[in-house]
Amino acid sequence: MANQTPDTSAERGNARRQFLKLAGFGVLGLLTGNFFPGMGRFASAQDPDTQFVPDLDISLSARPDKIAIFPGARTAVWRYHATIQKGDSSRIVEIPGSYLGPIINVHRGEKIRIRFTNLIPQESIVHWHGLHVPAVMDGHPRYVIPQGQSYLYEFEVNNRAGTYWYHPHPHGRTGPQVYGGLAGLFLVSDDEEQALGLPEGEYDVPMVIQDRTFDMNNQLVYMSGHMMERMSGFLGDLIMVNGMPYFTLPVSTRCYRLRLLNGSNSRIYKLAWEDGRPLTIIGTDGGLLEKPIQRRYAFLGPAERLEIWVDFSDDAVGFETFLASLPFDAGDRFGGPRGQHQALPNGAAFSIFKIKVVKQEAGRQTLPAQLSKISPPRQDEAVNHFNPKQFFLTMRHMQWSINGRVFQMDAVADDEIVRLGSKEIWEFHNTNGGMMNMMNMAHPIHLHGKQFHVIERSGVHHDGYVDEGLKDTVLLMPGEGIKILVDFADYPGLFLYHCHNLEHEDMGMMRNYYVASK
Ligand code: C2O
Ligand code: CU
Ligand code: CU
Repeated sequence: MANQTPDTSAERGNARRQFLKLAGFGVLGLLTGNFFPGMGRFASAQDPDTQFVPDLDISLSARPDKIAIFPGARTAVWRYHATIQKGDSSRIVEIPGSYLGPIINVHRGEKIRIRFTNLIPQESIVHWHGLHVPAVMDGHPRYVIPQGQSYLYEFEVNNRAGTYWYHPHPHGRTGPQVYGGLAGLFLVSDDEEQALGLPEGEYDVPMVIQDRTFDMNNQLVYMSGHMMERMSGFLGDLIMVNGMPYFTLPVSTRCYRLRLLNGSNSRIYKLAWEDGRPLTIIGTDGGLLEKPIQRRYAFLGPAERLEIWVDFSDDAVGFETFLASLPFDAGDRFGGPRGQHQALPNGAAFSIFKIKVVKQEAGRQTLPAQLSKISPPRQDEAVNHFNPKQFFLTMRHMQWSINGRVFQMDAVADDEIVRLGSKEIWEFHNTNGGMMNMMNMAHPIHLHGKQFHVIERSGVHHDGYVDEGLKDTVLLMPGEGIKILVDFADYPGLFLYHCHNLEHEDMGMMRNYYVASK
């Protein structure tokens, strides 16, 4: 297994030079081009609701910035910046030296006001990935605001404790904006979780995994513009953790809770510990599992989260291991001129970050056998139990689509309407309608506004899926099908479902669903 995290700066220089050969455009230059003209705009000038008394009142902006990632020139990025207007300022945690937005820490039941100001030179809007909020607070692309304007979010956090995140959602530009640096974690705690006594503080480590490509001047390189690269999605050459390359986590001989988010545009990770210890998984997208599970490895598709428990109390000071991504067949046949020379294709083996035990410290903890309660999915409660909705992930005219449709700002088809207060079964099929099998590839499917149960996975060619617990994003490898149960208990209106390969999403592999209250 190739270790891609060299230690010394000499090795680092070598490693970097290998990654720097690529021709391409500087991402920020590319971003200012208008690739997707004619988007409708429904910007709303809102006043705060005087009835709404926030526990936490935050000003959040997206702005151009420069970050020292490598020696030499600083890297131009876009970056979320937050200040607290009301509430405990320790709720906003900046990651030093990172382009990532600050970690926002909230407790279930709290009322949150966030005034978002867009200071980047193109339209944007913020989406709270995984949060269950009203449609107008969800960051649908119809609410994009231009540079200089603000959008007001007010909502009560009613999600289970877990690892959620926020990122831009303007149609056609989510990929480049996330790539440019716009993403951050949104961590929810609750009483049930806090009573467990899981590792906290420095033993509770959020880790955002992304891939990036840099040019000779330390600037981000995004897409070459080649059709094949658009079809497969962007893959970077260098693995970043929390916005830093060659990441090492120094640990004590203690237990840790690692919260892993795949914040990459299209890269899939097959996680495993290099020293052979099993992955002890305690949580997924929608929070803690009922019971910990152990796997030799686990997939983490774009936008998915996994929380893992790891105990270093039997490891000596000086011990090193790393979290690896194991090789797998991503089914991606879209090589293209760049793909053939891709230093790190999807499915390649590499190290994600290194662990180094640096300190002896007493205090071994035991992992609770019961982590949470999740009411079991009742399929017979679904209104379409005998006739689940069917969604085929297909390609038409070199364009990824869902049931042959691509995104239109306000369009909803008949089979995309659900009734408020009902439960439904939805099936997604990554079989390309049985056509052009060589054109299949993986798609991470995401629903806005809901956490759902995975009922069944079919046509499985891989193992290592964590379909347990509550999910908002689910990875479908080529040939696979998935059946999910979604509860539309509250919040009427227009929400999105889409592929979270951000290049697929940007080209329109995204649709609205409408929750009708009548
Ligand atoms: Cu991370 Cu539309 O979502
Ligand atoms: Cu989302
Ligand atoms: Cu896709």
